[in-house]
Amino acid sequence: MSATRKKPEELRSHRWFGSDDMRQFGHHSRAAQMGYSRADYAGKPIIAVINTWSDINACHSHFKQRAEEVKRGVWQAGGFPLEMPAIALAEVFQKPTTMLYRNLLALETEELLRSYPVDGAVLMGGCDKSTPALLMGAISMNLPAIFMPAGPMLSGHWRDQELGSGSDVWKYWAEKRAGNISDKQWLELEDGIARSPGHCMTMGTASTMTSAAEAMGFTLPGAASIPAADSRHGRMAADTGRRIVEMVWADLKPRDFITAGSVDNAIVTALALGGSTNSVVHMIAIARRAGVPLTLDRFDALARGTPLVANIRPAGAHLMEDFFYAGGLRALLSGISDLLSLGERTVNGKTLGENIAGAEVFNHDVILPRDKALVSGSSLAVLRGNLAPDGAVIKPAAAEARLLKHTGPAVVFADYNDMAARIDDPALPVTADSVLVLQNAGPLGAPGMPEWGQLPIPKKLLAQGVRDMVRISDARMSGTSYGACVLHVAPESFAGGPLALVHDGDLIELDVDARKLELKVSDAELATRRAAWKKPAPRFERGYGVLYQQHITQADQGCDFDFLEGTAPTAEPEIH
Ligand code: FES
Repeated sequence: MSATRKKPEELRSHRWFGSDDMRQFGHHSRAAQMGYSRADYAGKPIIAVINTWSDINACHSHFKQRAEEVKRGVWQAGGFPLEMPAIALAEVFQKPTTMLYRNLLALETEELLRSYPVDGAVLMGGCDKSTPALLMGAISMNLPAIFMPAGPMLSGHWRDQELGSGSDVWKYWAEKRAGNISDKQWLELEDGIARSPGHCMTMGTASTMTSAAEAMGFTLPGAASIPAADSRHGRMAADTGRRIVEMVWADLKPRDFITAGSVDNAIVTALALGGSTNSVVHMIAIARRAGVPLTLDRFDALARGTPLVANIRPAGAHLMEDFFYAGGLRALLSGISDLLSLGERTVNGKTLGENIAGAEVFNHDVILPRDKALVSGSSLAVLRGNLAPDGAVIKPAAAEARLLKHTGPAVVFADYNDMAARIDDPALPVTADSVLVLQNAGPLGAPGMPEWGQLPIPKKLLAQGVRDMVRISDARMSGTSYGACVLHVAPESFAGGPLALVHDGDLIELDVDARKLELKVSDAELATRRAAWKKPAPRFERGYGVLYQQHITQADQGCDFDFLEGTAPTAEPEIH
C-alpha cells in the first residue's frame, strides 16, 4: 500500500479523459450526452458501482436504492460514480445452479473494471455466489475496491415460530413428507419465511461469505451483520461510497490486504460462525486469485482450534437479525481475537484489531462464551481415503453424533434423476444404517456442482423416525442444510474419481475423528471396475458450458477456471 496520495493526473481514468486528442473528444462528448459537464468528473476518481440487482434476485431487491446511497457517498467525497450492472446470480431461481455462473460474474467484474475508465469499485453483492465472484474479479483486476454486503433479511415467522431460510424448509419438508404438516400449514410457511429484502438470514453461504469478506478486510467494520431492511444499512452504503474515494487517493488495493493472514482470518471467522461448507470452495478460489496457495488441509488445521460460538441456525438456534442485536460480527471476533491475525489491514485503512477493539456482546445466548461453544473445535473436517484421494469435507456439528463413526452398505444413485426416481420407492433396499451415495453431481458431472449433497431421507425411514443418515457425494450442500453429509468428494465421479466405482452393497467406512473415508473394496476389484468404467460424454456441445467444462478445476482446487487463477498481469487496454 502506498503511503503517498495520488495526484489527479495519476488516476487511471486520466488516460480516458486527461488529454484533448480526437479519441478523448469522444469520451468527453459522450459524457456530455449523459448530462455531465467536465466539472462533474474532471480530475475526480471514477468509481464503478458494480450492481448485481435484477428483478429475479429477491435478495438484492433493495439494491436500486442502495446504489443511489453509494453514489451519494461517492459524490460527497469528491468522486464520480458510474453504476455498472453485472449478472445477477439469483440462488433460488438460476438452474442448474448459480455455481455454474460464479466464474462468469468474476470474469465480468474483472473485465468491466479493466475495459472502462475506472479508478475504484464498490462491489454490491450478498446472495451466495455473488460475494466470492465479485471479490475474485476485483482481486484479479486489483484496483481499489470495497464490498457492500446486501445484509440478511429479517427473521421469518410462522404462527409463533421463527423461521430461518433453507434450514426450516428442509425441516418442515421432512415433516410434511412424514405426514406431520398439512398443505394449508405448508402454504402458511411459504408466506412467512421471506419477508424483507436481503440474503438468507441463517448461517448459509451468504451470511458466511459476507462475514468472511468483512474479516478479510473487504468491508467497512460491522457492515456484514446489518439487516438489509435496517436504516443503518443505507447509511453503511453511503459510508462505503465515501470510503472508496479515499481508497483511490491512497491507492489501497485488494492485494494490499488479502494475505495469508487475512485469508486465515476469514476461515477462522467462517468456522466460528458454523458457516457453510461452500465457503471452502470459495475461499480457495479467492485466496489463489491473490496468490495465497490455500489448500483443504489449512481448513482442517484451523478448524481443530476454532470454537463454534455463533448460536445461529442451522448449527444453533437463532438467526442473523438476533446476531446483529447481540453485537454482530465485530463482537464475535473480539471474543476470539487470540485466534486472529489482528495486524491485517482492511479497507478503512485500519487493522482488523483496531476495527474490533471494544466491541461488546449484548446477548450471550446468541454469541456464546468460549466455554459454552456449540462445538469446541473441528466444526468442519477434511476427510481423505481411497474414496476421496484429493479430499472431501463434512460438517460434524450439523450431523447426528452417532454417525460420525459409521460403517454401512452403499445404496448408489447414478445421478440426481436416478435418486429422485427411486429414493421413496418402498422396494429400495435401504435401512437407517445404509450409506446413500450420489454420483455425477460434481463440477463437471451435474454440471455445476449443485447443492444436492443433502440427499433426502427415504420416506419409509422418515416414517420410522430416522432424520439423519450418512450421505456421500461430489456435490455441495446448502449452508442452511444439515446432516451427516460428506461433500465435495474429489476427484469427482464424472472425471473418473473412485466415487464412480462404488456399487450397491459395498461397505463404506466414515471415521471423522480419524479423518477417514474408505471404500472397503480390494484394490484388485477396484482396478477391475476402473478398467470397465466408461468416461461419460461431455455435458455441453456449445456455448458457455463448453468454456466451463474445458477449464473448471475440481472442488479441492476451488472450482475456478484454470486460466483465471493466479496473479499473472493482464495488460491494460490501449486507449486509441
Ligand atoms: Fe439469496 Fe439465499 S437465496 S442468499
